[in-house]
Amino acid sequence: MNVARLTLDPAFRIGSIDRRLFGSFVEHMGRCVYTGVFEPGHPRADDLGLRQDVLELAREMGVTLVRYPGGNFVSNYRWEDGVGPRESRPTRLDLAWRSIETNQFGLSEYMAWVRRLGAEPMMAVNLGTRGLPEALDLLEYCNYPGGTEMSDRRIKNGDLQPYGIKLWCLGNEMDGPWQIGHQTAAEYGRKAAETARAMRRLDPSVELVACGSSNRQMPTFGAWEATVLEQCYDQVDYISMHAYYQEHDGDTDSFLASAVDMDAFIDDVVATADHVRAKTRSEKKLRISFDEWNVWYADRFPGESALEWQQAPRLIEDEYSVVDALVVGTYLISLIGHADRVAIGAQAQLANVIAPIRTEPGGPAWRQTIFHPFAQAARFARGEALRVEPVAPSIETKKYGAVPALTAAASYDAGSGSAALFAVNRDRAEPIELTVDLRALPGATLRAHHVLSDDDHRATNTQQNPDRIVPRVIAGGEQTGQITVTLPPASWNVLEISAPE
Ligand code: AHR
Repeated sequence: MNVARLTLDPAFRIGSIDRRLFGSFVEHMGRCVYTGVFEPGHPRADDLGLRQDVLELAREMGVTLVRYPGGNFVSNYRWEDGVGPRESRPTRLDLAWRSIETNQFGLSEYMAWVRRLGAEPMMAVNLGTRGLPEALDLLEYCNYPGGTEMSDRRIKNGDLQPYGIKLWCLGNEMDGPWQIGHQTAAEYGRKAAETARAMRRLDPSVELVACGSSNRQMPTFGAWEATVLEQCYDQVDYISMHAYYQEHDGDTDSFLASAVDMDAFIDDVVATADHVRAKTRSEKKLRISFDEWNVWYADRFPGESALEWQQAPRLIEDEYSVVDALVVGTYLISLIGHADRVAIGAQAQLANVIAPIRTEPGGPAWRQTIFHPFAQAARFARGEALRVEPVAPSIETKKYGAVPALTAAASYDAGSGSAALFAVNRDRAEPIELTVDLRALPGATLRAHHVLSDDDHRATNTQQNPDRIVPRVIAGGEQTGQITVTLPPASWNVLEISAPE
């Protein structure tokens, strides 16, 4: 058996874990909105057509924030199409996903949904086919109390109180040639700066996110962030990151190690932002909005141009295995481990489209395997992220060389005195005997050891067998001072550690 050890000490603080780290993403894409979160006529739909079964699952998942309405979709979206009486909303062609958009779900449905969820809204403006004037109209519609054209339009549409949306994305993936209205870094940087300046003039309380690169493999990655930030550093609060990973050619070990790339990606963006900070003599330390991340089997997607015009087509409805859940767990560990710089996270997406929640039209909703590590991290990662410095054996991977078999992150909540350790054993054959030094938390005990694993690493949750893969508690009890647990091969683990009496 492999052995590993680490230390959990509140003195080794990384930074506070922002609750916004546990966000999600609802895009008008495939069946995320239509027959996902919204399905009038469904037996569980409420007065607005919002599916209560999906809302309940999103609540159980612990989603704290929801980015909307895209994604690529936003870059050719007219927000005005989605407000006002539903019967007079236009049907349009969405060029991003070659889909027919009925606009039956729009801004007020989203705001009602996000409030019923108890989460924070995060709105993206269209900087592809549109720009500053339309972003200002939207902000005025959302946040200005009343007595002006746009705010009165909101009131007339039934929403008397301003929405008070704080978080705004200045476009989406503007570096990507696939983006409608794609721009160079210099063009986008200027547009982002001018839009941000004007939006702040209208509402100084907004927090603004500039688009970083669409992924680390983009040929412009690094230069894009530097050029964009040189123009808008002082005007924005966050730079965005997006990353999707998948298993290639059956190379499971490299896939299980892919958070190594995510860690390096975050470090690169932080370094670039700090370089611009030095150059611009700014006082401000920019933080990261990792507002799209997940496992996505992109090789199975035929590409936007191959799609037929349809309403709410079944797009990228990946079915996730145990391995995928562990990989998602390693990304959550990466985000928690960078709590000092990553302030916002949004797993993409929430329902059906590469999603933790699956639904059938007129039918049930269920939890995919990847639902569980997210739900546990959102529930237990409270307070401060701690540096744990695991000492563990390595596994050899084709893509990343030698990678630690154990990846882990921890949190400590001084208020309740409780701590949590999140750990993935990447070794598919060998368990790890892990010793956790708790001397800095006198009297703390292991309340529970939660595990997600299965002998069949490819097992999934399906409509017929929705709870085939669920976390289970395998240990708990009286260990104090130093605890020793066994992490099964290929497993996601949460050690819930309770406060001293
Ligand atoms: O989440 C799916 C798509 O991935 C988003 O629309 C886009 O921003 C990214 O490329």
